[in-house]
Amino acid sequence: MRSGSYVKSLEFLSNVPLKFKIMGMVIFTAFLISLISIIQVYETTERQAVSYLKEVSRSTANEMANLSEDYLLTNDIYKLDQIFQETVRLRPNLRYLFVVDKSGDVTASSFGSGFPRELLKVNRNVKKTKIELIGTDEGKILDGAAPIMHGNLGIIHAGVSFKKSRNNINQLIQSLVVTLLTIIGVGIVLSLFLTYIITEPIKDLLDATKAIGKGNYAIKPLKSTNDEIGELVLAFNDMAYKLTKSEKERSERENQRKILLKKIIDAQENERKRVARDLHDKLAQTLASLTIEFKLIENSRTLNHASLTKKIKELRGAITKELDSLRTLCSDLRPSVIDDLGLIPAIELFKDEFTKRYKISCDLRIHGDIDVRLDKTAKIVVYRIIQEALINVARHSFTDKVNLTLKCNSDFLKGTIQDNGKGFDLSKEHDLAGIYGMRERAEMLNGRLSFYSEINKGTTVSFEIPLKR
Ligand SMILES: Nc1ncnc2c1ncn2[C@@H]1O[C@H](COP(=O)(O)OP(=O)(O)O)[C@@H](O)[C@H]1O
Ligand SMILES: [Mg+2]
Repeated sequence: MRSGSYVKSLEFLSNVPLKFKIMGMVIFTAFLISLISIIQVYETTERQAVSYLKEVSRSTANEMANLSEDYLLTNDIYKLDQIFQETVRLRPNLRYLFVVDKSGDVTASSFGSGFPRELLKVNRNVKKTKIELIGTDEGKILDGAAPIMHGNLGIIHAGVSFKKSRNNINQLIQSLVVTLLTIIGVGIVLSLFLTYIITEPIKDLLDATKAIGKGNYAIKPLKSTNDEIGELVLAFNDMAYKLTKSEKERSERENQRKILLKKIIDAQENERKRVARDLHDKLAQTLASLTIEFKLIENSRTLNHASLTKKIKELRGAITKELDSLRTLCSDLRPSVIDDLGLIPAIELFKDEFTKRYKISCDLRIHGDIDVRLDKTAKIVVYRIIQEALINVARHSFTDKVNLTLKCNSDFLKGTIQDNGKGFDLSKEHDLAGIYGMRERAEMLNGRLSFYSEINKGTTVSFEIPLKR
């Protein structure tokens, strides 16, 4: 039970805002210190006052015992009463003086008439000076009693009251309380200031963190100090800067991806248009004219065998030509060679076509058993990367030679397409859909692709694709 409530109160404390924790601590400590010092001061002064008053009561009793002797011997009671009254009036702590004779009667007293009889019970038959603490309706009194002339003339009592010194102590405590309250007040003001200094940057940090959490990266760097919180702020600024940067990079990549996607879709649409046009313009027209030719043959009654054979030969030639262009169209659309013969034969075929079409010689070097190590998707990806890189050389580099190397070891396939053409400045290019497409393709296979280009020195595209074991 007890440990449960302990845990609960700890939980409550940790939920209290930092501001109140610091304030609470300061106020609690100040109160505790004040309370302890008040109690200590009170006890010490009280103890000192008691021993002082005991001394006063003892010495007064002795002094007055000596003084009273003569008056008692001469029986000058009237004078003694007057001396007692005067002494009590002049000494601040002295409440009473009286003498009791051997038979228990009051001989002389400072009370005048109306002597309080209960005082007769205090300090009776003392042989030497003695002090007794008594409680009266006026408060505590120290009754000091001393025998006069060895008790032959009676016993003198000197009553010392606590009233005056109690008042002094109370005044002391009061001024102590006022001082301590002032110190607590100053402490609270200082702790408010301290709390402000500590919590303000933390509040700023919190606001900034919330803003970043909501996706608002446009936050200004926070002001930092030289303490631990300053270090935290610096670390936060650094983190915010990196987050902002990576968010910018991410959104740039996202934009490029979108542009690329649009390009791909556009390219696909154009390709479809071209295929449709090719099919319509060439194949459909040729087939239409072939149908007409066949109809003519069918309807002709004059054709002899020789001219029929000649006609059929012509028509066969036309069909073969069309079949060829149909094959080219199909291989452009999807190089079936990759599926039928493999990646390397497909690349070799493309290289030959490339040299023929663009008049650029291509030095192809191959190391390792690439076709065995790559799967179907990887083969198509590598083929498309090489296709794009070579067509870039043809379109942009203004050179007549390109080197293409493919190497494969147990872990990677590495490829480079290098030309000595006019080169380009990557940072100044805006339309990089082709380049991004190559990179995306390599990254799709967890690989990497990089460009190195220098104006008038040429361009090198390198890629690296991890291989499955
Ligand atoms: N081999 C190269 N030699 C010179 N410039 C090149 C080469 N490859 C690419 N570039 C430059 O990079 C640009 C971007 O290439 P790419 O993204 O493939 O787009 P595209 O080929 O459609 O212009 C090209 O316009 C060209 O200026
Ligand atoms: Mg290109």
